[in-house]
Amino acid sequence: MSAMTRGFADNDHCCTEKMGEYYERRAKNGIALILTEGIIVDKTGDGYNNVPYMKTSKHAKSWSNTIEKIHENDSKIYAQLWHCGRISHSDYTGGISPISSSNKQASGINRQNNKPYGIPRKVSKTEIPEIYDMFVNSIEKALDVGFDGVELHFAHGYLIDQFFDSRINDRDDEYGGSVENRCRFASELLETVVNEFGAEKIMIRISPSRKMDTTYNWHNLDEMLDYFIPKIEKIGLRQLDVSGANSNYFETSGKMIEKIRKKWSHFLIGGASLTHDEAIKEVNEQRLDMVTWARHILANPDFVSKLENNEKIVEMTSEMRAKLY
Ligand SMILES: Cc1cc2nc3c(=O)[nH]c(=O)nc-3n(C[C@H](O)[C@H](O)[C@H](O)COP(=O)(O)O)c2cc1C
Repeated sequence: MSAMTRGFADNDHCCTEKMGEYYERRAKNGIALILTEGIIVDKTGDGYNNVPYMKTSKHAKSWSNTIEKIHENDSKIYAQLWHCGRISHSDYTGGISPISSSNKQASGINRQNNKPYGIPRKVSKTEIPEIYDMFVNSIEKALDVGFDGVELHFAHGYLIDQFFDSRINDRDDEYGGSVENRCRFASELLETVVNEFGAEKIMIRISPSRKMDTTYNWHNLDEMLDYFIPKIEKIGLRQLDVSGANSNYFETSGKMIEKIRKKWSHFLIGGASLTHDEAIKEVNEQRLDMVTWARHILANPDFVSKLENNEKIVEMTSEMRAKLY
């Protein structure tokens, strides 16, 4: 089950009983690995209504029951840890400007509060280690409370991706410009957390090709992959999730996986609404080690049995998205 933000955390940004039941239902039906909705590492990285945080022990403990239920069903659960960067507004960050790799504002309206995205503040070099520390703190809390691992959200235009992205990142220090420099924030962050916790429980999610409003590939795509994939392997990472956001797998992330597989022999997951046959083919042909689904699992709590019995998969509707069941 890939990460899906739902917006049902309580006003203290804690996991509720209903959220736990929603995940438990999927684990009971045979989902092997649940990647939680994005969980915010620090208020200054929030950008959404009622999303959970992993900042304090109270936040962490609110997940205990959920984790227990998942484990009772022989399933595993990873916390997806998230900093929105400029995909935010001061309404969410405690009245201060969101931060980013530059001060370029995201275009469009934030559907969370129907206001334009905030004008971000270009984060200074000296502050960067403080952001790594936010992730260290959240990982520590998540692992202490019993999550099987964490997935760090390096994808979909959020903070870490805002460093990869040369349309946004206009820095002239060592965090911008060249391929190596645009990968530096991600690499240093990963190095910090692997040094602290080892790599066994750490996965990252990247989206070198994705479609959100429009299709976008990392600039200098091949050079970026040639640099970044060996780099994360050298750091010790062994689990990678490649996403194309909400797009057709074969047009975006599937193409990236073809490229990445040549450089990465370790655990690799991906997928987007694949059919049963397509999923089996991706695994049999050793492109993917595990296939993820999001919308189908939201819409069909009994997705695994439906897949196994060749039953009709219901498509997700906006009504389904607006409730937890
Ligand atoms: C309601 C919803 C919320 C999502 N929230 C997140 C999120 O918090 N983090 C993330 O990495 N991806 C998120 N995604 C993207 C999904 O994880 C997934 O990559 C995408 O939906 C494509 O897979 P699918 O075709 O199987 O739905 C979300 C998707 C949906 C539909």
